[in-house]
Amino acid sequence: MARQASSDLANSSVQDSMNLLSRPQEIPFIDVGAQRQRLGKSLDAALARVLSHNQFINGPEVAQLEAALAAFCGARHVVTCSSGTDALLMVLMAKGLARGDAVLCPSFTFCATGEAVALTGATPVFVDVDERSFNMDVASLKRGVATARRLGLTPKAVIVVDLFGQSADHDAIAAVAEGEGMFVLDDAAQGFGASYKGRRLGSFGLATATSFFPAKPLGCFGDGGAVFTDDDELAAMLRSIRVHGQGSDKYDNIRVGLTARLDTIQAAILLEKLKIFEDEIVARNAVAERYAGGLGNIVAVPRLASGCTSVWAQYTIRLQEGTDRAGFAAALKAQGIPTAIYYPKSMHQQIAYRDFPVAEGGLTVSERLSDTVISLPIHAYLDEDTQDHIIEAVRGAVSV
Ligand SMILES: Cc1ncc(COP(=O)(O)O)c(C=O)c1O
Repeated sequence: MARQASSDLANSSVQDSMNLLSRPQEIPFIDVGAQRQRLGKSLDAALARVLSHNQFINGPEVAQLEAALAAFCGARHVVTCSSGTDALLMVLMAKGLARGDAVLCPSFTFCATGEAVALTGATPVFVDVDERSFNMDVASLKRGVATARRLGLTPKAVIVVDLFGQSADHDAIAAVAEGEGMFVLDDAAQGFGASYKGRRLGSFGLATATSFFPAKPLGCFGDGGAVFTDDDELAAMLRSIRVHGQGSDKYDNIRVGLTARLDTIQAAILLEKLKIFEDEIVARNAVAERYAGGLGNIVAVPRLASGCTSVWAQYTIRLQEGTDRAGFAAALKAQGIPTAIYYPKSMHQQIAYRDFPVAEGGLTVSERLSDTVISLPIHAYLDEDTQDHIIEAVRGAVSV
């Protein structure tokens, strides 16, 4: 069934691939439809409850979700919000980041990581990543701090990203941050649900941000996000910032804030999805293991670093330098298999960010990854026949 080639799948975006219900013969990159089918009536009932109580803003499901997420990851406070980007921004606003401050962040990431920094007026200083884990390279982080100081900036924070779903080396990052007097903000937009040394993401650093964008491992039906923290004072500030900097009520404005709440409808959906999330993480890991077994001897497959687990937001392989990546993608597309490139440019290569500093020594790994990575379909509902088809197609395309 999922095997037919489709000419119009060519440059399909993830959004297109997520909405293939009308074109069931193609392999979805992420199968939101299969999950919806599994949840069936429970989702309908959750939505009906919101439509009957009509509390679309800050309805009871929002507090219920915050409690459920706290129980899931062990964080003391969960402050849901309108997106993963706002989750990052709210923490930086609460910490008073401003012009003259430097925030160290990886360059090989989605743009929101550095964007949130730039929005505060602070300077993102881009650092390199490790080729195998795709996560922040600690030696480059140290060089980035030196770069920031040399430029007269004050290094205030590190945003560490758990890229493609795998937790970063949080102990190593924390040690550098502590030594330099910086706080750590974990960007777990892709990694929420993964763990580090047996502890779920959500309790590392000062705060953790995540995204509930529909394509994320735990996604809603629109935009959404959350901040996790054990810090009581920070949590109170975040709750104020997400409603226009409110004080005793929303018409008492004690700081500049945002409209950054999570809709009740999205909270209701997430409550249902959270019930099957653990099971989905197991299923995603089974797909990743099977891919590694079938592809590990022909392309560079992602490897889990010691103490780290992944929720496999993406399954990203590395092609040999000089491989015709577009040709490789076209060969897979011809067999009905969509691919995606995360990220064709690292942040420091983007027009909007190329004037910000990069760590001394350059970001050669990020640049090489941007030239050689390609991601394969992965989700909890990818059956073994389809996995085998993808494995065979990749092996065939690589050996051409
Ligand atoms: C690493 C990373 N950070 C931040 C974000 C921003 O999340 P959102 O799209 O919910 O604003 C994303 C989303 O794609 C992401 O992948």
